[in-house]
Amino acid sequence: MSKEYTFIEVSNQASIGIIKLNRPNVLNAINRPMVTEIVKATEAFDRDDSVKVIILAGNGRAFAAGADIDEMAEAGAIEMELLNQFTEWDRLAWVKKPIIGAVQGFALGGGFELALCCDVLFAAHDTEFGFPEVGLGVMPGAGGTQRLTKLMGKSKAMEWLLTGDRMSAQEALHHGVINRIIAKELLLEETLKFAHKIAQQPSLSLRLIKESVYKAVDYSIYEGMQYERKNFYLLFASHDQKEGMRAFREKRKPNFKGE
Ligand code: CAA
Repeated sequence: MSKEYTFIEVSNQASIGIIKLNRPNVLNAINRPMVTEIVKATEAFDRDDSVKVIILAGNGRAFAAGADIDEMAEAGAIEMELLNQFTEWDRLAWVKKPIIGAVQGFALGGGFELALCCDVLFAAHDTEFGFPEVGLGVMPGAGGTQRLTKLMGKSKAMEWLLTGDRMSAQEALHHGVINRIIAKELLLEETLKFAHKIAQQPSLSLRLIKESVYKAVDYSIYEGMQYERKNFYLLFASHDQKEGMRAFREKRKPNFKGE
């Protein structure tokens, strides 16, 4: 389905919802309506029982070259505060299904922040990440200073954020920002393969694993372990736990139902 700023589709074998940014003439600069489209499509996939995994991808020369500078260049502080546009981005953090990012070309500013909203990130060799906001007289506003710091630690994050320098895919891999580097022509294909692999897993487990991993980022080890344990126990209420363990004992493939 073609929206104004995105393409939304479900993969051939179903189960994978794909959202592609589509504003190639401005390198997929993210304007507010595009954010609305991305968030709505992601939430719709999250509600759709036939979809197990979501892919967020770019298109053309960029994943996204940042938030749309034209949209905010002349804005005032009070206007920005009242608009509070980034709360809409925050809704991506509430999505329960795994989101896999497939990024290529430029992933700058808000484009990098959008990539960092993904749970797993694959990048083409040519990807350039970075936070050029400092050179525009601003700073990241959609989670960049927080998520990058949690991923690579204070000192390294400082360096990238204060200089605005671009980070290659190789550097991003080295710092644990991305999961894999993939040849550009194979990026979507390989991302789909990976998405299909996790889509085979019982969806309640995926959901509670994702939730628990994020608790590890924000909670103390003790609180995180308590959270993990409750989720572990909760899964014993599911059909898929009984099916998974019985199938193991009966030496057959499990038939998961997502319940
Ligand atoms: N906003 C609006 N338009 C953008 C844009 C952006 N972030 N990035 C690129 N474009 C537009 C350019 O203005 C240009 O449009 P025209 O053809 O109409 O002139 C078109 O996309 C192609 O871009 P370039 O001609 O500049 O392409 P290039 O290959 O020479 O350079 C680039 C590519 C290095 C990515 C360069 O476009 C660039 O520096 N873009 C801005 C990057 C940036 O500063 N991003 C941060 C934005 S602020 C932000 O994201 C805040 C936040 O935290 C949410």
